Amino acid sequence: MWQIYQPARSIFGEGEIKNIGKYMAEAGMDKALLISTPSMVRHGIAEQVKAASGGRIIEISDHVLPDAHVSNVNENIDIALRIGAKSIVALGGGSAIDCAKVTAAAIGEGVRAEAFLGRGIPAKKVLPILAIPTTSGSGSELTGDAGLHGDNPGEVGGIVMNPHIIPRVAIVDPELTYSVPASVTANTGFDALCHAVDALGSIHANPYTDAQAECAIRLVIENLEAAVKDGSDQKARAGLAAASHIAGFAFSQAGITGSHATGFAVCGRYHIPHGAGCAFAVEYWLKANSLVRPEIEASAKRIGFDSVDALCERIAQLRKAVGIAGTLTELGYQPGDEKMLAGMTLHMFPMALNAAKPSVEELLDMYTKRI
Ligand SMILES: [Fe+2]
Repeated sequence: MWQIYQPARSIFGEGEIKNIGKYMAEAGMDKALLISTPSMVRHGIAEQVKAASGGRIIEISDHVLPDAHVSNVNENIDIALRIGAKSIVALGGGSAIDCAKVTAAAIGEGVRAEAFLGRGIPAKKVLPILAIPTTSGSGSELTGDAGLHGDNPGEVGGIVMNPHIIPRVAIVDPELTYSVPASVTANTGFDALCHAVDALGSIHANPYTDAQAECAIRLVIENLEAAVKDGSDQKARAGLAAASHIAGFAFSQAGITGSHATGFAVCGRYHIPHGAGCAFAVEYWLKANSLVRPEIEASAKRIGFDSVDALCERIAQLRKAVGIAGTLTELGYQPGDEKMLAGMTLHMFPMALNAAKPSVEELLDMYTKRI
């Protein structure tokens, strides 16, 4: 049995943020708080979006941190309550969209952000959200996930699949990504690729998510290097924006798996960007999952490669070409890290949906080979 649940309206195209007022009206969204990043506000993009909304956005907040935290979500809750917000617009990368989701859920439920800490975001009443991603990677504009962190180190955050926090409308405007720096383009592009690879390797994978994952992988392979080399390459930027969005569809249904388990472990140990962490062992997971899910071999052929091995080789080349580390030494390896990482990876939540079930010894072997 498999099912698809994707209630978001997706709008894709250069310059489409200019039409936000029309899209908000069609979705019945009014009296919105726009939650964005300090840099989007500083560069005047947030103001442009507000002006284009035809009065439907009434206030801008720049209280967004690199990850949504209880205190900065509460700052947004306070602003939303003060202005009587009836909807939320998110403009930014995954962190801004996550912050908007938690804010919309807290307002809808009449609680503070603390209420969700350590127990996910089990909200049913959520203010309608319109999401505008400004990087090509997270796919957060389509998902029912939101990360929430405590203000004190060690406080457990909440990441959940909750269909109520899926944005009602997503506007993907590749023009917003033209100024993204090369290193961020590389990291977020690999995040999108890993969402697609993880969807292929999920126990919930199905023909629908496979088709989306294949399309996203092909688009990243065709466009990432060009976009990293020349950020003004409009065709490459559009290809990556589409890849991110389509990969978002795939993993919003199938979930994230092995490469995100590795990614969380590697990011936790070396404090590197999310996409770079997930990229570290992506081909290991593609290969391992293809051994228990033969459909992945057929996917590799449909993407345009002779085999999963050939696809893995191309992905490893691409990672090197865009400057993402593929060895522990490049990340700052200390003796014993491989053992610690193998243990951590096995206990990361994305392993629950991973088709292959490697032992800790197999993961240790993988990390050891990559020192
Ligand atoms: Fe990711």
